[in-house]
Amino acid sequence: MSKDKITISTLHEMKKRGEKIAVLTSYDASFTAVLESAGVDVLLVGDSLGMVIQGRKSTLPVTVKDMVYHTRVVARACKTSLLVADMPFMSYDTSARAMQTGRRLMQAGGAHMVKLEGGAAQIDTVVRLVANGIPVCAHLGLLPQSVHKLGGYKVQGRDADSARRIQEDALALESAGASMLVLECVPAVLASDIAGALEIPVIGIGAGAGCDGQVLVLYDMLGITVRKTPRFVKDFLAETGSVKAAVAAYVAAVKEGRFPAPEHGY
Ligand code: KIV
Repeated sequence: MSKDKITISTLHEMKKRGEKIAVLTSYDASFTAVLESAGVDVLLVGDSLGMVIQGRKSTLPVTVKDMVYHTRVVARACKTSLLVADMPFMSYDTSARAMQTGRRLMQAGGAHMVKLEGGAAQIDTVVRLVANGIPVCAHLGLLPQSVHKLGGYKVQGRDADSARRIQEDALALESAGASMLVLECVPAVLASDIAGALEIPVIGIGAGAGCDGQVLVLYDMLGITVRKTPRFVKDFLAETGSVKAAVAAYVAAVKEGRFPAPEHGY
């Protein structure tokens, strides 16, 4: 049976029904075909490609050209999933530049939505992108593009002040028109509260099982990442033996609420 195309409306309906959303990163056409056939709902062309594909130490050197290239090759194989592309570091430091980056990712790359990192500072940019027909996925919590400002890849929102800031930012981003929110590395209780307070789907990574969906970096969940992987990662290939079975196991575990388990959270 052929699957209907997944749109942002589909994801909003899934949230209302309590059906979990399975998201994975993808960077090329071959993996995209496998991910779609295993039932992944949303493909994220993450700027994590800087680390897992290009072997860099952070996502900071990734360019708009890199993102357009990888988004375009994923788009060629993407038939039913919603395709989200990251806006890389310094490609949305003004709302005018964000418009140019969003236009390239959608026109040349074929993205259906763009993702940007940050809270209050990004509100005007989100309003402008959305007003011009560019759907936005926001990203709060651990912001990899701010790794040097944060002093490392650390869990965010552990104290009351920073938890409140993340909560306020999430509500403001939803009001500004964001269609979806990624919450990275925050305590499970905080993530669950935010998912409950927002109407838009909240996708967690290291944010516990109370989110509306989960995302992992593809290479991490296949156990082929050379760097040290964080505790929220599970290697699904180890227990399945094939890439397609590993992705199908991830999708099933997310949909059935078995992943993430408490030991993958904070
Ligand atoms: O770049 C990326 O892969 C991401 C995910 C980790 C959410 O932003």
